[in-house]
Amino acid sequence: MKKIIIAIDGPAGAGKSTIAKKIASILKIKYIDTGAMYRAITLKLIKLKTNLSETDKIQEILQSTQIDFMNEAIYLDGENVNLQIRSPEINNSVSAVSAIGIVREKLVAIQRQIGQSKSIVMDGRDIGTNVFPDADYKVFLTASIEERAYRRWLEMKEKGFQTSIEDIRQDLIKRDQGDMEREINPLCKSKDAIEIDTTGKDTRRVVEEILLYIKEKNNVII
Ligand code: DC
Repeated sequence: MKKIIIAIDGPAGAGKSTIAKKIASILKIKYIDTGAMYRAITLKLIKLKTNLSETDKIQEILQSTQIDFMNEAIYLDGENVNLQIRSPEINNSVSAVSAIGIVREKLVAIQRQIGQSKSIVMDGRDIGTNVFPDADYKVFLTASIEERAYRRWLEMKEKGFQTSIEDIRQDLIKRDQGDMEREINPLCKSKDAIEIDTTGKDTRRVVEEILLYIKEKNNVII
């Protein structure tokens, strides 16, 4: 198979990571969760008690920060932070951190580098519009706010975080607004992406729709 890039964008809780992981596993290619990268930087800035207006300090921190993916886990400066980055505290701050230009520059550069050498499925908010505008396949996933809040609540519960669905609903509304209204590379659907509303659909059905889109676009047998 030739090197391919599949970009999956959409708001929080639309099912991006579950679907992207599944597609990557079926096609035997790498999955990159770019939201996890913004979360990892947020964790580091919180740990270092950084004020988000301290641009010089943030720049310094970014220069000495190492982010890696290994066996489906994200490592921040060598430490597995998979669980820590899903906390309500990170949920509350990540949208503001991801609106900072120098943070985006650093992470987008890493994302492009990863996609240079191998086939990937990458999910996020600006993958099809900014990180890989020439991606081979672009998908924009959406779902109703109620369903997105319920899915996130289930995920949080499984990870041991206690919150209410209503708190998560409010967080998602606030985060969507921040992600869509920020000046640099806001969340939006790329003109050439297919849009799939995942409300009421199980993972298998959405994965099948995406595989069909890939097959039809490329005339390939998967
Ligand atoms: O997908 P997620 O909820 O883990 O993403 C966390 C935050 O990171 C989200 O609120 C917006 C930001 N983000 C971004 O700005 N650009 C991306 N490509 C991925 C995530």
